[in-house]
Amino acid sequence: MVMKPEPWGVALDGILEDADLASGSEPLIIFPSPAGEVFTQHMARELAEEQHLVFGCGRYEGIDQRVFDEYSARARVKLVSIGDYVLNGGEVASIAMIEAIARLLPGVVGNPESLVEESHEEDGLLEYPSYTKPANWRDREVPPILLSGNHAAIAKWRREQSIERTKRVRPELLPRELDDAPRGRHAAP
Ligand SMILES: C[S@@+](CC[C@H](N)C(=O)[O-])C[C@H]1O[C@@H](n2cnc3c(N)ncnc32)[C@H](O)[C@@H]1O
Repeated sequence: MVMKPEPWGVALDGILEDADLASGSEPLIIFPSPAGEVFTQHMARELAEEQHLVFGCGRYEGIDQRVFDEYSARARVKLVSIGDYVLNGGEVASIAMIEAIARLLPGVVGNPESLVEESHEEDGLLEYPSYTKPANWRDREVPPILLSGNHAAIAKWRREQSIERTKRVRPELLPRELDDAPRGRHAAP
């Protein structure tokens, strides 16, 4: 079963008219779709710059193609996939995107510094392992370097850990200049 175009037309016409009256800023209409461009942190950053996002969530076998054609001609439209698997509907995909985008807006995350060092940010590497107190938990120690107070040594250790983890878990993300080791076929978690 494919979603019919008429109800989408009524809903999206109304949204576009309201957007014109409200701000004059043209909304970006996102249709979550497994056939879309893959959502990434880079895309989240771009979308966080937009004034008005509209999410059009499909169900069943998706939406009649003419809805995409009609609104691509009249507005900005993007089909976006949150990964190479199929969900029942676009709602969960939209919530995932909204959360990733909204946390990049000023004031949403208390310490903006903490956004910079995360996985998929800046250099595209996965984040290094994180620890907190206590220093010993069930005979598992926090790596001594992290308790040393030597900020340069800690930064170096974290960088090495990021590179090692990325090589092991997501070798395809590794920047070319860091890709000096043979890649394993089966990565450990
Ligand atoms: C069962 S899916 C339709 C799949 C479609 N027939 C296809 O093969 O591309 C129903 C709806 O779930 C949403 N959806 C499913 N998987 C998704 C994914 N990986 N990313 C984003 N949205 C997804 C979309 O809104 C889609 O219209």
